[in-house]
Order: sequence, then structure tokens, then C-alpha cells
Amino acid sequence: NWTPNAFINENIEKIRKQVGNQKVLLGLSGGVDSSVTAVLLYKTIGNQLLPIFVDTGLMRYKEAERVKQTFSAYPDLNIRYVDASKTFISKLKGITDPETKRKIIGNTFIEVFEKIAGEYEEVHFLAQGTLYPDVIESATFTGMTAKIKSHHNVGGLPEKMNLALIEPLRELFKDEVREVGTLLGLPESIIQRHPFPGPGLAVRIIGEVNAEKVRLLQLADEIFISELQKNGLYNTTWQAFAVLLPIRTVGVMGDERSYDQVCALRAVDSIDGMTANFTQLPMWFLQKVANRICNEVKGISRVVYDISSKPPATIEWE
Ligand code: XMP
Repeated sequence: NWTPNAFINENIEKIRKQVGNQKVLLGLSGGVDSSVTAVLLYKTIGNQLLPIFVDTGLMRYKEAERVKQTFSAYPDLNIRYVDASKTFISKLKGITDPETKRKIIGNTFIEVFEKIAGEYEEVHFLAQGTLYPDVIESATFTGMTAKIKSHHNVGGLPEKMNLALIEPLRELFKDEVREVGTLLGLPESIIQRHPFPGPGLAVRIIGEVNAEKVRLLQLADEIFISELQKNGLYNTTWQAFAVLLPIRTVGVMGDERSYDQVCALRAVDSIDGMTANFTQLPMWFLQKVANRICNEVKGISRVVYDISSKPPATIEWE
């Protein structure tokens, strides 16, 4: 019988044995998984843990500021904030293939971490909040054949890496991680957060990524998410986000013809992300969000709602 309590106790032992008195780098994104990993590790090894927040420039609207704000309640964690957005965006220049994007982002993450690791003595470990579904869908272990996507937490990492991985949540599903996090005392605002993919907005901008597209998508996504929150719908859907499409369509703005981009909204009901149904959001709500996006985000003039389920469509568009 799985209980969060037993899980925490067992893992504290395991991690202590594995790590000894060495230092452990941790990629903290501010999401549920990495935040729970951080607090669990801190409880276990204290300041041997070095949590690093890497701003990839591919994160949600004002994410770095928000993470700083949330974790100001945890000053002992000593989080280091690194802005690597220019590096990530420039490495993605000209890249349109989804798997290539994931590989580039995974590699860049490791480059950033190895550089930071080099500044400390005795860092041999990198901790990540990888979950069981990430492992399965990346199918990196024997017995699995079809690879769906190389989730950068798992299959997207370079084979040659100087840091050994510590992934205490590797056998858990999201709902179990939320239970562990609650027991560890993390706030609701983190526990109830929707999942967000490691490669971030790069896999929600179909086609080539650049800073301007990231900016447009952040604005549209923020309108969608904040309206879900305002209308009491955020916690009733498993995950929701906007996607920026690489096409333009014709519209009218006042008396003029416009030729602007299209944004798709996606919201799904799911238990573990392995299968999903699109969320039946009320029409009045979708209309309100679509109106706001078209009125407030210059450059987007059409909004569509994705009504596909998984399978066959994955949750993310790439
Ligand atoms: P898909 O698109 O595979 O998504 O149906 C299932 C869940 O996994 C998230 N996802 C990722 N998470 N790295 C991650 O850490 C990734 O590369 C990645 N791709 C998808 C997705 O947001 C959804 O919750």
C-alpha cells in the first residue's frame, strides 16, 4: 500500500546513502515535480542541495518573477537564478522539428548545469523531478519499443554527461507527487499548478521559435490561464495552455484587412497525462478568452479550440 509518508521516509534513506556528503545540483522550474523534489532533497541533505532556476526564455508569462516570489517563503533553499534565455533562443534559430527542439533544449540545459557544477567543488549529481509517465513515454528502458516523445527530463538528455541523475519521483504519478508535496507542506499554488513541459513554449510554438513569438504566446496564454483562475475553472481542468500556429489568416480590424497569426487553446482532463479528453469548457468562457486575446494581443486575430483527445492527439502539439 503506497502512502506519501512511507515514500518520504524510504527515499530519505536511499538518497542519503547515494549522495553521502556530496553536493547535488537541482533544476528547479517552479512546477510541482521539481518543487517537490527540491523540498524532499532539502529535508534530506540540507544545503548540500544547490537548486538552480534556469530561465530558458521559453517559460510562461513573468515566470521567473513568480517563482522568486513563491520561493521567497523558502530562503534557506538558497536558490540561484540564472538567465540563459539568450542562449536557448539563439540555439533554436532555424529549427522546426519537434524532436530536434527537445534535443537542443536538453543539451543546453546540461551545458548550463555542467558549467555551474564546475564552479563548485564535488558536484557529481543532478536531481530532476522526472515522473513515471515521463519515463514510459520516453521509453528509455528495455522492453519498451515505441518512443512517443523524448521528454527532455529523460530521453532528451545527452548520453555523455558528467553528472549522475537523481530522480526520486521516477516511480510516481502526478497525483502521488501532489500528495507527497502536500505532506511536505508546499503551498496550494504550487501543488495545484498545471503540468508544464521541460522544453516549455518551444513545443507550443509550432515551427521556428523566436523571442517575438514567445512574447505573443506568453500574452495569449496568460489571458487564458488568468481567466480560468478568475472563473473557478483552473482546478477543474488537468492542464490548459495556448499554442501559437505558424500560419496567418485574414481578418478585419476596423475598416482594414488584417493578416495575422492564429492561436489554439488546449485544455484536457486527465489523471496521469497518458490519456486525456479535451475539457468541455463553457462556450461563453471560450468566447470571452478568444475576444480578449484578439483584442489585447496584437498579431493574433483568430483563436481556435482543440477538441481532440489523446490518443490519437498528444496533449502538447509537438
Ligand atoms: P504529451 O504531449 O506527450 O504530454 O501527451 C503528456 C504530458 O507530458 C508533458 N510533456 C513534457 N514534459 N518534457 C516534460 O517534462 C517534455 O518534453 C514533455 N512533453 C510533454 C505534457 O505537458 C503533458 O502534461
